[in-house]
Amino acid sequence: MHIETTTKGLVSGSRPESCTVVIFGASGDLSRTTLLPSLFALEQHQLLPENFAIVGTARSDWNDETFRDQARQHAEKSSSFHEEAWKKFADKMSYFQGDVTAPISDFYEALDQNLQQLQQQHQIGPNVVFHLSMPPSFYGEIVQKLGEAGLLNEEQGWRRVILEKPFGHNEPSARELDQALQKVLREEQIYRIDHYLGKETVQNILAFRFANSSFDPIWNREHVDHVQITAAEKEGIGTRAGYYDKSGVVRDMVQNHLLSLLSLIAVEPPASFAPEALRKEMAEVLKFARPLSSKADCVLGQYAQSEDGTMKAYREEENVADDSTAATFAACKLWIDNPRWSGVPFYLRTGKRLSQKLTEITIQFKPTPQPLDEQRPQSYAGNRLTFRLSPTEGIAHCFLAKRPGPGFSLEPVTMEFQYDEAFGVEKLPGAYEWLLHDVMQGDQSLFPRSDWIYHAWSIVDPVIREWENQPFVPLPNYSAGSWGPEDADQLLKQDHREWYIAKCS
Ligand code: BG6
Repeated sequence: MHIETTTKGLVSGSRPESCTVVIFGASGDLSRTTLLPSLFALEQHQLLPENFAIVGTARSDWNDETFRDQARQHAEKSSSFHEEAWKKFADKMSYFQGDVTAPISDFYEALDQNLQQLQQQHQIGPNVVFHLSMPPSFYGEIVQKLGEAGLLNEEQGWRRVILEKPFGHNEPSARELDQALQKVLREEQIYRIDHYLGKETVQNILAFRFANSSFDPIWNREHVDHVQITAAEKEGIGTRAGYYDKSGVVRDMVQNHLLSLLSLIAVEPPASFAPEALRKEMAEVLKFARPLSSKADCVLGQYAQSEDGTMKAYREEENVADDSTAATFAACKLWIDNPRWSGVPFYLRTGKRLSQKLTEITIQFKPTPQPLDEQRPQSYAGNRLTFRLSPTEGIAHCFLAKRPGPGFSLEPVTMEFQYDEAFGVEKLPGAYEWLLHDVMQGDQSLFPRSDWIYHAWSIVDPVIREWENQPFVPLPNYSAGSWGPEDADQLLKQDHREWYIAKCS
């Protein structure tokens, strides 16, 4: 493949085969704020097929113009928005009103005809991506009906289905869903999306670990003291109570995004870079993770009003019950019982309405033995490597340096890599851009396999069950705008450690 660097610092790639992307749930937030802007960005990077169409479908009484206008409102916010590029892109968008629960003859067959017409009119290939941006309770029915209507038949061209998270609400329901999908789809047609895996900074973990040799020999229990993964959010739940109140933080963030990050840090080097090799190793690593089974492993919490009263408590959010026990914060200690990681704790932390938006993974290496111990600052625990995902994007390596002057005084300093400085990319492309491109290219590397998802559920299911049976602590237990419940600090303090926040000390 020919690859050249563009002026924006991105490398160019190839355009996928001609195809149509059908978005189910096209009037929803994800479609408007993320999927369509991502497809538009791909168009601007010349990474969409030449002959291409997007069909949005939903029950809303919209037409092509409404569909385009809604998408435009978000796309326009991007600093790289160009009127002409948008026009070209918008011409490829059309809307097809319908109800996914309607009989096959009323909706699915009509959709099929609509697709065939588009393909003929615009010389588009018979390949189709179906993106299910709908509540997961509809997945089984939609896929079954698509199958019965012949829309998943690959005789003419490929057919692929993207499913948004959550994939099930526990291990048994994830298995059940898979069984329903596998009646009409081959595994190669199923793309279970975890947008964290599409982030540049997350994929760079693979590059850092497997394209460089310097850290490889010390990436193990002999040298790593512990690992911290933080995905803190400043925002509350906004208007998503309907989903969030049933899901809670463990299903929303831990089961998928945090365990994906953990898997990339802990994964064994794949035998090759064939998509299947990485997916296999990713599933393998979670197989050895101990389930989070008790409150000793996990601190959960829910936010109260902020101390200054400017931010609402979770229970005061729109459509949340006064006595809701949904957890909005989780801090967990997780163990991986394999030869590489046995005895190394992985601390995971995530929550809504925390002090700042911060997503980071820190590998804390063990300190050196003597002889420089006496000169080492008290607080210094050893070299620390931090993958920064948000708001800064890059990598920081913290180490001790000799302060200039007489004697031998040591001080922690940081070596940094930042994407904007290194590659001149002001803002990294959004995660969905690459994931959608990968689906069109038929590359499943960054899409979790079903067994990864089952293992991930089996890790969190026990703690969710326990909490849903009876929350371990009175709620709410942390103020909006803080760093979460005090017990989360205690979880590390009892191990003589502390949470790090983007600083070297
Ligand atoms: C989503 C969760 O999957 O990820 C949201 O449903 C969360 O609750 C979001 O806010 C966080 O994503 P990011 O990319 O902003 O860290």
